[in-house]
Amino acid sequence: MPSNTLAIGPVRPANPFVLAPLDGYTDLPMRLVCRRAGAGLCFTEMVPGMALAMGSRNARLRMKNTPEDHPLVIQVVGPSPDLLARVGRMAEEAGADAVDVNAGCPSRTVTNGGAGAALLSDLPMFANVLTAVRTAVKRVPVTVKVRTGPTASRNVLEEVARIARDTGMDAVTLHARSKAQGYSGKADWSQITRVKALFGGTVIGNGDVLSAADGLRMLAETGCDGVMVGRGAIGDPWLFTALDAAWRGLPPPPRPTGDAFFRAVLAHFDMFAEYLGDEEVAARLFRKHLCRYVRGLSGAVRLRRSLPEVTTRRALVRALDEVLTAQANAPAGAPPEADDFADIEVPA
Ligand SMILES: Cc1cc2nc3c(=O)[nH]c(=O)nc-3n(C[C@H](O)[C@H](O)[C@H](O)COP(=O)(O)O)c2cc1C
Repeated sequence: MPSNTLAIGPVRPANPFVLAPLDGYTDLPMRLVCRRAGAGLCFTEMVPGMALAMGSRNARLRMKNTPEDHPLVIQVVGPSPDLLARVGRMAEEAGADAVDVNAGCPSRTVTNGGAGAALLSDLPMFANVLTAVRTAVKRVPVTVKVRTGPTASRNVLEEVARIARDTGMDAVTLHARSKAQGYSGKADWSQITRVKALFGGTVIGNGDVLSAADGLRMLAETGCDGVMVGRGAIGDPWLFTALDAAWRGLPPPPRPTGDAFFRAVLAHFDMFAEYLGDEEVAARLFRKHLCRYVRGLSGAVRLRRSLPEVTTRRALVRALDEVLTAQANAPAGAPPEADDFADIEVPA
């Protein structure tokens, strides 16, 4: 078995593959699904500091975890050192194995208030935020997730790495795109190599890992310690099974099909409905997962069109049944549907 170099302070995941923080997706049920498939470490979706400090139930729910949901990084986002210090402490109390500061989110709702990737345009504030969180969080590691800089021509990784080192960060995650790039174009993995050399400590690489081969290539090409997977894991938790197997030198495991697939999707939904405590709300919110689960299958286009009808568990079962029947009746060798990320709504 290969030795895992991913270490975040005392946190030693079983493999180097990390579920990304994905706002609106990586809640407790999705994390459990990905862990059971093989993810070594999971991040929560970003926990909005202001809302948490004001007692928002939704913000608190984002930190909810169970004994199985570890090791867990709780990610916090907010504009001021004081607020993030307070929220970082709350994350620690909520059971985080590490607290991560979001300095990479390019969404205007986040950056307009000076948080997320806006911190990369105000490096003194970036340093103040990291210092405040590091000081406030007493018992667990503190990490930071960044992009390369505000724009492609304003790359601030050198300063970011120095500040992360000087403020005692236990790891840096780099989504290898600039803030201005959003989610367009390709992630520039050479920037992961660069930040590893500049920071020296634990680096998690991130951006465009869609297959086991991509994950191993990122490890080998960049020298990063961990590989973070975001969009590729939505509706495909089995990507973690494939990553883990490839990393251990085992043959690629088959992706579940037919009944096994049906049961897996339904088990995710049932956890989600229990988590939200409302089956109808869960059915509505689960549609975005469903689209991704069925992508590439015959009948997926039809299912997308009939999504508004998925308002209950029973309707979800019917929709899934229809897709699987269409799949079973599809002519052999029918070309799979094009797979892009058009149906994933990025934070805007
Ligand atoms: C729907 C969505 C939500 C996201 N939410 C967060 C978030 O809460 N915190 C964060 O740091 N990054 C967030 N990101 C960025 C991802 O963590 C990741 O950096 C990005 O998707 C690139 O990785 P990928 O190519 O594997 O998807 C989000 C991305 C998407 C698509």
